[in-house]
Amino acid sequence: MSLNLGPLFEPFSLKSLNLRNRVAMAPMTRNFSPGNVPGEEVAAYYRRRAEGGVGLLITEGTTIDHPGANGYENVPAFHGEAALAGWKRVVDEVHAAGGQIIPQLWHVGAVRKEGMEPDPTVPGFSPSGLYAPDKANGKAMTQQDIDDVIQAFAQAARDAKTVGFDGIELHGAHGYLIDQFFWQGTNRREDKYGGSMANRQRFALEIIQAVRDAVGPDFALVLRFSQWKMQDYDAKLAETPEALEQFLMPLSEAGVDIFHASQRRFWESEFAGSDLNLAGWTKKLTGKPAISVGSVGLAEDFVSGTFMSQQAAVAQSGIDELVTRMQADEFDMIAVGRALLQDPEWLVKVRDGRDSDIEPFAKKSLTTLA
Ligand SMILES: Cc1cc2nc3c(=O)[nH]c(=O)nc-3n(C[C@H](O)[C@H](O)[C@H](O)COP(=O)(O)O)c2cc1C
Repeated sequence: MSLNLGPLFEPFSLKSLNLRNRVAMAPMTRNFSPGNVPGEEVAAYYRRRAEGGVGLLITEGTTIDHPGANGYENVPAFHGEAALAGWKRVVDEVHAAGGQIIPQLWHVGAVRKEGMEPDPTVPGFSPSGLYAPDKANGKAMTQQDIDDVIQAFAQAARDAKTVGFDGIELHGAHGYLIDQFFWQGTNRREDKYGGSMANRQRFALEIIQAVRDAVGPDFALVLRFSQWKMQDYDAKLAETPEALEQFLMPLSEAGVDIFHASQRRFWESEFAGSDLNLAGWTKKLTGKPAISVGSVGLAEDFVSGTFMSQQAAVAQSGIDELVTRMQADEFDMIAVGRALLQDPEWLVKVRDGRDSDIEPFAKKSLTTLA
């Protein structure tokens, strides 16, 4: 391979993170934890990616200790002795393989439907009882509910540190609970948590502050956010760089160390008149490190490639563009999702120029924990 892949393989250090390179595995829900406990196979799945050279593993979304946090079957919990022991095994195996790992702490909000495990009588909890602007579900949260969830995020972060994780990621993206507060479409509150962006981000700010108090100043705190929502792929929290700055700066000042700016195709510019993508703008506006993501090594994006067509092909697409952007210091790290889900050795194959050995992503890989 003639590409200079150097920028992908530079180490990265920040607080509790000391990463051997700039490649992260993107958080991907796998539904392979019966009883909400991640078992040996889950540990082996993450270990294989660490053995494949990935610098930072970001776990699948794992639910905080609140009755409404979970929205899907067989998702690992981040509370209770058995689940935390399962996570400790994951951490130990990833560390033994030279990787670092952070859990993605998750509350699904109004995505939860009644009937879902662990207690089928528990409804979805959300800012205004809305799954989407025109779709009601579950209950609007009381102040007590809000306080409970904030404390549950803080407890999960504390437990992450105790178990030996290298930091945490808060799932503030894609239309789940934290994002339901950010997004006007699902936040119609008239109290201090609704209305202006300053109010809509208050919930996240209080979580970040509580997490920071729980883990201390030196434990890396990553916030994942997105413009797009699974309820509306065209939704936007910020239409302009100025609006993005207003959104990001308070979060940065509250204690976010790294922003993980989720977009579906990393090469797409965020605002007209500039090539910068969402992570690029985030780094420029906040001065904080940023992780980008979206269709690395794939021909089709997350939505069309995963859920609409049989196969997304072309294992190597976009690597040259990625390296060029990283060389220019547009963002600090890149998260890779489906390419690594399909092929645990994707990164070493890219590094060694073994393009034809890379397994192209196929939807079938979603059905196994290989
Ligand atoms: C099967 C699957 C599960 C996912 N689960 C999560 C999740 O739990 N949390 C999250 O923030 N994003 C989740 N995502 C989105 C990915 O983290 C990533 O942003 C997306 O797949 C785009 O990256 P890619 O094109 O490299 O796959 C998921 C994606 C897939 C394919």
